[in-house]
Amino acid sequence: MRFDVVTLFPDMFGTVRDLGVTGRAHAQGLWALHAWNPRDYTHDVHRTVDDRPYGGGPGMVMMAAPLEAAVDAAQAGRAGQGLAPAPVVLMSPTGRRYDQQYAQSLAAGSGAVLICGRYEGIDQRFIDRCVTDEISLGDFVLSGGEIAALAIIDAAVRLLPGALNDGESALQDSFHDTLSGLLDSPHYTRPEVHAGQAVPAELLSGHHANIARWRRQQSLRLTAERRPDLLERARANGWLTPADERYLATLGA
Ligand SMILES: C[S@@+](CC[C@H](N)C(=O)[O-])C[C@H]1O[C@@H](n2cnc3c(N)ncnc32)[C@H](O)[C@@H]1O
Repeated sequence: MRFDVVTLFPDMFGTVRDLGVTGRAHAQGLWALHAWNPRDYTHDVHRTVDDRPYGGGPGMVMMAAPLEAAVDAAQAGRAGQGLAPAPVVLMSPTGRRYDQQYAQSLAAGSGAVLICGRYEGIDQRFIDRCVTDEISLGDFVLSGGEIAALAIIDAAVRLLPGALNDGESALQDSFHDTLSGLLDSPHYTRPEVHAGQAVPAELLSGHHANIARWRRQQSLRLTAERRPDLLERARANGWLTPADERYLATLGA
């Protein structure tokens, strides 16, 4: 998998390339990162990438031409490696919300070109001509798209086969199909008692079926409390068992 990031701040991507699970996966050659700075595709002495908005108003707007040239360079780099043109994904608060399904679809493909906006936004003509998808990290406004792009890369790379150790399996994570799209259950480690609070007895029982039932029930309880929408989705898709429904009935959910 290869991610190409169009950004005015390429240094921000050292974290995802060098550290933790994604850093290890990068060192193993499971994915590659290429950064393209729009300033390298300008033709004036100031390397200008932004200008005032037509119609007036505050802030500056990123110009279309340097972004378009950076995307062309990224796609040419991919073609040079024998890769098909990648989706061009703009980080934008007005886009579709990033979720685990989107991360899974990215992990199943050959990557993407991620566009990180800055300032008030991006000339719409670049978006109309080059962008295939607009993705938001949530209902808040960041100063730039880099943190959103880092989140997109991290969530997709950790799903690549071999990226996680067995003990870190993504199969146990919130939203995963194997968890019926529910939230993960609480976790505990040593000591058995911390600040007067004991680890739940079920986890100490050594009885695998009881432990699995406890975890499933905790997932159901948490999801019912915090994300009833996910519970409804699981129900509508037929992912809940009769035992799940009996437990939920005891919660009134
Ligand atoms: C200051 S924001 C511009 C916000 C824009 N004026 C608006 O209100 O929709 C600058 C850049 O940060 C990125 N950004 C901000 N919030 C984001 C979010 N929630 N998700 C993804 N990207 C975001 C986008 O790339 C955006 O172009």
